[in-house]
Amino acid sequence: MNLVPVATPAGGASGHQAHPLEGIVTDIRLSRRRFIKGVIFSGAAAASGAYIAGAQQPRPGAMMDRLLTLNINGAARPVEVRPSETLAFTLRNKLGLTGAKVACNRGECGACTVLLDDAPYYACSLLTHTVKRRAITTVEGLRLPDGSLSAVQRGFIEELAPQCGFCTPGQVMSAEALLRANPSPTREQARQALAGNLCRCGAYDHYLNGVMRAAEMLS
Ligand code: FES
Ligand code: FES
Repeated sequence: MNLVPVATPAGGASGHQAHPLEGIVTDIRLSRRRFIKGVIFSGAAAASGAYIAGAQQPRPGAMMDRLLTLNINGAARPVEVRPSETLAFTLRNKLGLTGAKVACNRGECGACTVLLDDAPYYACSLLTHTVKRRAITTVEGLRLPDGSLSAVQRGFIEELAPQCGFCTPGQVMSAEALLRANPSPTREQARQALAGNLCRCGAYDHYLNGVMRAAEMLS
């Protein structure tokens, strides 16, 4: 953009008189050209520098721990997590909540089941940073305010549901999710609700008895 016409040199062939702003305008144009060149160069330099640096080391923050505050069992729990970290790992290894077990670690067995906003999820298949706005409940959080066990936990004990007990926390959490949504389920509904929890001991019927016993306690 020309602010004013650029005059020919003073005393030139045209005999045109130098404009009083001639020197200033020329300086402005040169300065602007220099400025654009500088921007382009510095941008290219910055980009190439970043590329070279990026080839040698990870992007800043790419694998760094980040401080999150999770809502777990009704309490705010600050914890530093990596972007690739699973909720099961965070709960067990950073927060000391080892109730959720890790068996298959790939979303097949249900041993790691926790509740997010009352719905059951496999904690081994969730990235921790994706659940920072959810209400997370683990088996440690089922204890009633007076310290007693929940209806599901008592029902499982009364029906002698667990054998080795390894799958039990996951079974408890799936049953808890069912009874929060439907306090009076049929046995078939209970079977479907626990279908995502494998039991190597084969205690399925005992767990179903426990769910139905818990439903009776809640009725
Ligand atoms: S450990 Fe998560 S589903 Fe098996
Ligand atoms: S009670 Fe042993 S795996 Fe279920």
